[in-house]
Amino acid sequence: MITAKLEDATTSLRHSLDHQRRFTADASHELRTPLAGLRVQLEEAQLHPGETDLADLLRHALTDVDRLQAILTDLLSLARSESTPPTALEPVDLAELVEAETAHRIGDPHPARLDLAPGVLAEAVPIQICRVLNNLLNNAQRHAAHDVTVGVRRTGDIAELSVTDDGPGVRPAEREHIFQPFTRLDSARSRDLGGTGLGLAIARDIARAHHGTLHVEDATPNGARFVLRLPAATGHSLPAA
Ligand SMILES: Nc1ncnc2c1ncn2[C@@H]1O[C@H](COP(=O)(O)OP(=O)(O)OP(=O)(O)O)[C@@H](O)[C@H]1O
Ligand SMILES: [Mg+2]
Repeated sequence: MITAKLEDATTSLRHSLDHQRRFTADASHELRTPLAGLRVQLEEAQLHPGETDLADLLRHALTDVDRLQAILTDLLSLARSESTPPTALEPVDLAELVEAETAHRIGDPHPARLDLAPGVLAEAVPIQICRVLNNLLNNAQRHAAHDVTVGVRRTGDIAELSVTDDGPGVRPAEREHIFQPFTRLDSARSRDLGGTGLGLAIARDIARAHHGTLHVEDATPNGARFVLRLPAATGHSLPAA
């Protein structure tokens, strides 16, 4: 009995160590690419100062610095979202949060349609739910053909926030994979040009830190529907949807 428990604990520890090792290797690789680019440009300029176009060099160098900064910022958020203290949770009105947050978004190619049940309260850290919403909206805006919809509703004890688009959707075989750090399926989101590939990993960690879930499913008739489910706050003002 005790031996079996010890074996389980050892296996789980080994999995966790493997996961950490893989993550560190991936993160190092992601950081090394822009850093190597930066180094080549600076060495070239050092070797041939007379032939260096300073404005061009600075523009390219700053692009690499921006990318390094974006990856480091996302890595820090990932580390932070794993350690949300439960005491920081408060009742948050999801419809109000969505209205306020979408009003701030300027330049979206497909301004979001809102389908919000009022009075749905979730136990949450508002700034982190905004982070999830914006990550999902950034993705939806990139993939949608015409429409993006944000929905809020309550089912039983669950407060639900969804972001739906009418793009190509996510194939069933990729539906877990896209939540892994540094996963990018679209060729346009390459290592050098695209995002960090940490958006959905961060969003899922935030969901977990809230004792909730985040998954993707098919939208009707086509597209992707990302669903964040959070424990509803007690003391809600309206009956369940
Ligand atoms: N709405 C969507 N429709 C289809 N595919 C999607 C959608 N959202 C995400 N994906 C796929 O999941 C991958 C991972 O998404 P994620 O948000 O983690 O990274 P990213 O958007 O590429 O980069 P980042 O969010 O760091 O800027 C995307 O590159 C894309 O291939
Ligand atoms: Mg993203």
